[in-house]
Amino acid sequence: MIRVFSPSLMASVLAVALIALLLGLSYKQSQSQSRLWTNEELAMYNGTDDGLPILLGILGSVFDVTKGRSHYGPGGGYSHFAGRDASRAFVSGNFTGDGLTDSLRGLSSIEMKSVVDWRNFYFRSYKHVGKLVGRYYDESGNPTNSLKGVEAKAARGAQLLEKQKYEDAKLPNCNSKWSQQEGGEVWCDEGYPRLVQRPFEMALTGKTSMRCACFKEEELSRAGLEMYKGCDYLSKVCPV
Ligand code: HEM
Ligand SMILES: *[C@@H]1O[C@H](CO)[C@@H](O)[C@H](O)[C@H]1NC(C)=O
Ligand SMILES: *[C@@H]1O[C@H](CO)[C@@H](O)[C@H](O)[C@H]1NC(C)=O
Repeated sequence: MIRVFSPSLMASVLAVALIALLLGLSYKQSQSQSRLWTNEELAMYNGTDDGLPILLGILGSVFDVTKGRSHYGPGGGYSHFAGRDASRAFVSGNFTGDGLTDSLRGLSSIEMKSVVDWRNFYFRSYKHVGKLVGRYYDESGNPTNSLKGVEAKAARGAQLLEKQKYEDAKLPNCNSKWSQQEGGEVWCDEGYPRLVQRPFEMALTGKTSMRCACFKEEELSRAGLEMYKGCDYLSKVCPV
């Protein structure tokens, strides 16, 4: 009688089977990670059907956010993000009508950076389950020029934020406190409080905001410094 199952043959068969299994698994995993979605498919995963996971798209990347059902499920505060790519709403906060779009047209570089940061948050916090064919990925799953444009502008936004941080750090901050009885006040360890424009902000966002910085007496004639209302030229403490 022929012994078909010799121990060494058994070992080889097992090894081959194991390798096939591992290859199959990694293939399946790479398949699911690069799965392409259409807008219509994605729309079914908006949390309405209890049997389906909840999916969300941002910049064309699709994530399974089922574990965040309390945010994204029906009635959740962020349910409008489910089943679609509403990239723009991550900066506009506008979850109604045309606010729910994936278009970032007209946003500043800093706002685009903010959307890219949100996408990074989802990569860190949730499972990436594929790409949405449309504005940001083509039918082959390759990034479109729109995505490359957004990423390039976001990178510029990141640079500008760094520069702004650097410029901000050159001017010492004021101390500040606030209380119900006395309201708010600002003061300096050294020098006098003045309001200054944040650099770059106008160019970046079309908006301006001021911050409090401290200046020595001989610096007080610099251009661009504003005095606090209700505060004298050499007041040490200013109400806000
Ligand atoms: C542009 C406006 C806003 C957007 C796009 C936004 C987006 C989001 C998203 C997507 C989440 C869920 C994150 C996750 O999956 O864990 C979240 C969570 C949260 N948001 Fe907002 N948010 C906005 C404004 C606000 C404001 C104004 C507040 C508070 C006044 C707020 C308070 C919270 C809190 C407390 C959580 C965490 C909830 C929890 O973990 O249970 N958000 N936000
Ligand atoms: C979710 O999608 C389904 C099918 O597209 C739709 O009937 C339903 O109204 C949607 N639910 C929400 C909360 O948008
Ligand atoms: C949201 O966006 C839509 C469309 O752009 C606009 O009509 C609406 O006024 C916006 N709502 C808010 C609260 O900004």
